[in-house]
Amino acid sequence: MSDPVRQQYELLPYPARDPRDEAQRLIEGSPSHLLELNHYLFAGARDFAHGFRALVAGGGTGDALIMLAQHLKDKGCPAEIVYLDLSAAARKIAEERARVRNLDGITFMTGSLLDLPGLGLAPFDYIDCCGVLHHLPDPAAGLAALTQVLAPDGGMGVMVYGALGRTGVYPMQAMLKTLTAQAPAPARTPAAQLATARDLLKQLPATNWLRRNPAIGDHLAGGDAGLHDLLLHAQDRAYSVAELVELAQSAGLEVAAFIEPWRYDPASYLSDAGVLHRLVGLDMIARAAFAEQLAGNLKRHIVYLARQGRARQAVARPDDRVMVPVLRADSGELAAALRDRHSLKVAIDGLDLKVPVPPHAAEILGAIDGRRSIADIHMAVGAKTEALKSWAAFKPAFDRVYHTFNSLNRLFLQRAAS
Ligand SMILES: C[S@@+](CC[C@H](N)C(=O)[O-])C[C@H]1O[C@@H](n2cnc3c(N)ncnc32)[C@H](O)[C@@H]1O
Repeated sequence: MSDPVRQQYELLPYPARDPRDEAQRLIEGSPSHLLELNHYLFAGARDFAHGFRALVAGGGTGDALIMLAQHLKDKGCPAEIVYLDLSAAARKIAEERARVRNLDGITFMTGSLLDLPGLGLAPFDYIDCCGVLHHLPDPAAGLAALTQVLAPDGGMGVMVYGALGRTGVYPMQAMLKTLTAQAPAPARTPAAQLATARDLLKQLPATNWLRRNPAIGDHLAGGDAGLHDLLLHAQDRAYSVAELVELAQSAGLEVAAFIEPWRYDPASYLSDAGVLHRLVGLDMIARAAFAEQLAGNLKRHIVYLARQGRARQAVARPDDRVMVPVLRADSGELAAALRDRHSLKVAIDGLDLKVPVPPHAAEILGAIDGRRSIADIHMAVGAKTEALKSWAAFKPAFDRVYHTFNSLNRLFLQRAAS
């Protein structure tokens, strides 16, 4: 546990959140969206009605906690969620957000995740640890501590910073350390350091890598807490895909999925069939490492981790026609928006891409209602569209639609009861 880290988050809980906003909107993201974690860690088969124990480790101001607790409440599922953070100030905000939403079943704790193995807590089915491990002096020790309190068939959603996508951040941090060290004592306060950071940002030459990095925007726009988190952090490091895989392995875990999957697929960026052909034999990890080097803008890595040997079986697949496809709630209008369109625009972290819309996407997505199985969707779509009448014609069309929208993190699978 590092005191400067605790001090920073006591002073500037991150991300800055106003509990009153809970009356207006639910912040949803990754990891820990319920559809996502069920799909990638429980093969879509987790029956939440029979209890679910989750830990939000380094829960900060509560984004993942609130989303997960609200999703479980919306499903009417009794869950136990433990929230843990070093910062009492962050906890206060998270607690108030939960109170505004009338979320119960949450135990709030203040302390270090390194102490978890000694706390006598029952094992957790799921652990969220988002943006925390890279702030520990020894991230591997942190992940090992989390793994000790994970149920044997449980899994984790983890986010750590991405090295290439943060190009320019660490030279800027180093410059600010130099400026602080050279400053008189009164100019070493967090407020004075923030002012210095803002001054320096304004003067960066056009060739400076931070200035040239289009992926770094949200922290810069995030007010004091965001700027401090990005440029003045007492302790942070970033990971390449290969280093993240090594970190997972050190704790006996493996990557079940990278989120969003399309960003970790070289085929999302390349059109040359010859180049793509050479990548066909690579496994998911090697393809992800290649995609990271290719895109250059992955400033954070979000992964679902399962115990070694369990990752393949943990992920839901569209091979079984009883599986039920489910769209993220905010995708409801997708089918209508896709009608007569051949491509979708995706803009993220400085990159604009056009994703081809597979044939029959509008019909197939339009038939997804969260209850129909793949077989039911075939019946519904086949009854209206002659070209999809036979299973042999429908299944490849479904698979293409599934692949595209699952990659975009819009479409998931679950078993009927879950
Ligand atoms: C960048 S914030 C992320 C908060 C939250 N997980 C999110 O994604 O919005 C990092 C959080 O980790 C907490 N933290 C850092 N080291 C910790 C430790 N050893 N044990 C528990 N929490 C820790 C900090 O207090 C801070 O609230």
